[in-house]
Amino acid sequence: MRLFITGVESGIGRALVEEALRRGYEVLALGLSLPEDLRGIKFEECNLLDMERIYGKVERLVEGVEEIDLVILNAGVLGRIGLMKDTPLRVVREVMDVNVWANKVIIDALLDLGVKLGMVVGMSSGASLSCDKGWNVYAISKAGLNCLLKTYANEMPETHFISFSPGLVKTPMLDAILAGGEELYPAVKKVKEAPKMEAGELARRMFELLSKLKDFPSGSYVDIKEVL
Ligand SMILES: NC(=O)c1ccc[n+]([C@@H]2O[C@H](COP(=O)([O-])OP(=O)(O)OC[C@H]3O[C@@H](n4cnc5c(N)ncnc54)[C@H](OP(=O)(O)O)[C@@H]3O)[C@@H](O)[C@H]2O)c1
Repeated sequence: MRLFITGVESGIGRALVEEALRRGYEVLALGLSLPEDLRGIKFEECNLLDMERIYGKVERLVEGVEEIDLVILNAGVLGRIGLMKDTPLRVVREVMDVNVWANKVIIDALLDLGVKLGMVVGMSSGASLSCDKGWNVYAISKAGLNCLLKTYANEMPETHFISFSPGLVKTPMLDAILAGGEELYPAVKKVKEAPKMEAGELARRMFELLSKLKDFPSGSYVDIKEVL
């Protein structure tokens, strides 16, 4: 079994790689950097904001590879909790580039290189539906990701696409949300009070749930609560 994943230095991505290795997957990863203890995986350093470099990095990663069982589009950025009107266009573009368009470039590169893809899971968020005050461009980017993957699902019946919302997971991104100001943003208060999962537990559950994700039509948005 072979996994292709983006963003493995921290949080969910790192935990998913550890779990994949425990399960005997060969791991191909693209990201900003690779932690010391994950040196065994095939890794290409790539800032996903550098769109024009992505193709070459993907090409090196998949050299000699004909098929990938599972692609997890994990890398993502929050931008910052705040009002849409106060969010500079520069931040809007960066968040959209990493959370949406880099994923298009990666999928297109894999297709162009003739790699057969079994399942593609994009890490989405409940924010993509709620558009809560404070989440601004992050919510828009995850809604865009849902639509991007549904669009590919409609074009590529041979690959199963799912936008997966993992719930609240203790990671550096969640820390940044919690620092967002609960007095100004009721959704931050809700996050603070809600139960959260460790990244390792989420990773274990995600691999256990993979077959259930296949029961949903390709292109679906699936919240972890629907499948636990
Ligand atoms: N944590 C949650 O509760 C939660 C809930 C819903 C959805 N999600 C989604 O789950 C995914 C993982 O989030 P997380 O919570 O694990 O956050 P995280 O700890 O901040 O991890 C984000 C990952 O993306 C990588 N990344 C960020 N910008 C990048 C860039 N320009 N180029 C390449 N890689 C980049 C980071 O690399 P570095 O570590 O090297 O910066 C990191 O590995 C994200 O898509 C997030 O939106 C998380």
